[in-house]
Amino acid sequence: MKTRRYYLETFGCQMNVRDSEKMAGVLEHEGYVRTDDPKHADLIVFNTCSIREKAEQKFFSKLGRIKSAKKRNPQVKIAIAGCIAQQDGKKLIQRSPYVDYILGPQNIFRLADIARGDMPSPYALEENPHLTEDDLPSRRLDGIKAWVNIMYGCNNFCSYCVVPFTRGRERSRPSRDIIKEVSELGAQGYREVTLLGQNVNSYSSDCSFPELLRKINECTGIERIRFVTSHPKDLGDDLIYALRDIPKVCEHIHLPLQSGSSRILALMNRKYTYDEYYEKVRKLRENIPGIAITSDIIVGFPQETDDDHRRTLDALESIGFDGLYAFKYSPRPHTHAEKLDGHIDDETKSARLEEVLKIQNRSTDRINKRLEGGVLEVLIENPEPGQNDPSVVTGRTRTNKVVISPRSGDIQPGDRVMVRIVRARRHSLIGEIAQT
Ligand code: SAH
Ligand code: SF4
Ligand code: F3S
Repeated sequence: MKTRRYYLETFGCQMNVRDSEKMAGVLEHEGYVRTDDPKHADLIVFNTCSIREKAEQKFFSKLGRIKSAKKRNPQVKIAIAGCIAQQDGKKLIQRSPYVDYILGPQNIFRLADIARGDMPSPYALEENPHLTEDDLPSRRLDGIKAWVNIMYGCNNFCSYCVVPFTRGRERSRPSRDIIKEVSELGAQGYREVTLLGQNVNSYSSDCSFPELLRKINECTGIERIRFVTSHPKDLGDDLIYALRDIPKVCEHIHLPLQSGSSRILALMNRKYTYDEYYEKVRKLRENIPGIAITSDIIVGFPQETDDDHRRTLDALESIGFDGLYAFKYSPRPHTHAEKLDGHIDDETKSARLEEVLKIQNRSTDRINKRLEGGVLEVLIENPEPGQNDPSVVTGRTRTNKVVISPRSGDIQPGDRVMVRIVRARRHSLIGEIAQT
């Protein structure tokens, strides 16, 4: 039989990256082989993101271009998966009739039906009651670092956010399934796991999130544990102590602030004030010296005044994040914020974004500069695709900073080495191997 090929392109967050590993696993289990060229594919899958309008546009322009593949070869099947699929559902086929299938994030397993040619309907958008028990085949590529889902969905309904609509309600996987998966990864040579959930602090299954971290700490082979994302409202002392006390849990937390104005935080339905957030940061730093804290900021939320914006800038100055993702507010369908009065014009949003980035760049430079001369533990990683310079090795510190060093001795991906930081740059540190 002729080899059947699939082309898979992923947009959006780590949740989608992990889902795509499962999509690849399911298709390969059905005998499909991956191709990097959509022209050679029998099945084209887009795993989409709708978090901001820009993310959507990126996908739709891609989809427009793929139309010609279908004209050339009417046999090729096109499937849209992920968050746009769930959000737009049937509208997608009305808009782009050359699309064959629409699959929501809870319906990845249906790719097996598509592969076998016995998918009864073009749509798979229903809730999957077995989501947390899933044990889909998966195709992980990295070899050293792995993503592991611990929960799906989100119940928070931050007023700007589409995720609760695309990913459904919050559900946690049983801890034994997670431990089994992490133990297998350790046995396969993986060294680091990042636990994934929209709000990992509210993990709730047969144990709490800090208890889960303790159990994963026992998994042989795994040397580092990370997790994203933490919601500030659910960050309790027990997690702070877990970060402090559990040896494999790395000293880094991504803790999205979103705004420095408590008035805007209330409009965002974030359920904490700026002062409460600041107190958590203080406690984290008091208990875990050297912890890296990164964050997300949205500028130009509806009704954000110059004073609110000033509060965000002040917050960035007083907290001093290690790194920041900053976004212009983007109105999303179904969300509460979309219906608010007082939307901010794009020019103001751009100006505010620029001010945020300026302060952040100074913080990042200042914090990284302090690392010069110090010696840090680095886990050597596989080179990024297309960046295979044989004279250097790259890895990350426990605080998740990228370190690039001249190669020395027989260093391999997966090794943990001590590296002296010679020069700090904004997005990476230059080091030299101090000890292997
Ligand atoms: N569950 C995670 C990830 C959410 S999406 C969390 O709560 O942090 C990642 C980031 O995208 C958010 O933290 C927020 O800063 C940003 N974001 C989400 N919706 C947005 C919107 N409508 N406009 C602009 N940025 C948005
Ligand atoms: Fe969106 Fe808020 Fe849920 Fe994060 S916690 S996914 S920002 S609704
Ligand atoms: Fe992720 Fe985008 Fe969906 S950020 S959860 S893929 S909307």
